[in-house]
Amino acid sequence: MWISRFTQWCECKMCSIKPVRELYSYAYKKVVMEEIDLAELNKADNVLFIGGGAIPYSAMYISEYCSKVTVLDCDKCCATKAQQLIKSLDLKNIDVKYINGKHFDFSSYSIIFVPLQAEPKGEILKSIAETAPKDAKILIRSPKPSSKCYTTLDNAPIKLKKFRSLNQLTFDKTFLCSVKDITL
Ligand SMILES: C[S@@+](CC[C@H](N)C(=O)[O-])C[C@H]1O[C@@H](n2cnc3c(N)ncnc32)[C@H](O)[C@@H]1O
Repeated sequence: MWISRFTQWCECKMCSIKPVRELYSYAYKKVVMEEIDLAELNKADNVLFIGGGAIPYSAMYISEYCSKVTVLDCDKCCATKAQQLIKSLDLKNIDVKYINGKHFDFSSYSIIFVPLQAEPKGEILKSIAETAPKDAKILIRSPKPSSKCYTTLDNAPIKLKKFRSLNQLTFDKTFLCSVKDITL
């Protein structure tokens, strides 16, 4: 998807310019705090974030409230830049891996975060259903109806129940589901 490639490119360019990176991250802080509250994240949680980008700001905010965050990114440049950033900020409870989330062993995670641009949703959810603990929570962002360049969750193989309304440029809801809600 062109939008995903554009985001990758922007984050790769911005990540080494501290004021730009911090401004960009700060724009999402309120939303991520709402998602942390929705999931009732706590210090016992081991979180998996699929698609962190070169500036994994969501994972950075989340890491303040849980024991560990593992971030996956299937783009080598993004994963490498994110690893360098996390190391330079000395954030010891974030681990960035260059791996595609559509084939991953989710068995050790209590919360799995599926952001807007994590694709393909169907394969990711299948992999989660096959490997994650049945009571693990899933946070999944849903695009605004006007954001036509993102895949809607209308046909995603998951029962969407509890959600938080959010006012972001590209997404307006984050759903809280569990692995048991996956319908594959
Ligand atoms: C979701 S965004 C970036 C997230 C944002 N920086 C944040 O902290 O919320 C885009 C990233 O997702 C990655 N991505 C998309 N699908 C993926 C998948 N199946 N597995 C791993 N990474 C994925 C892309 O490579 C891209 O770098």
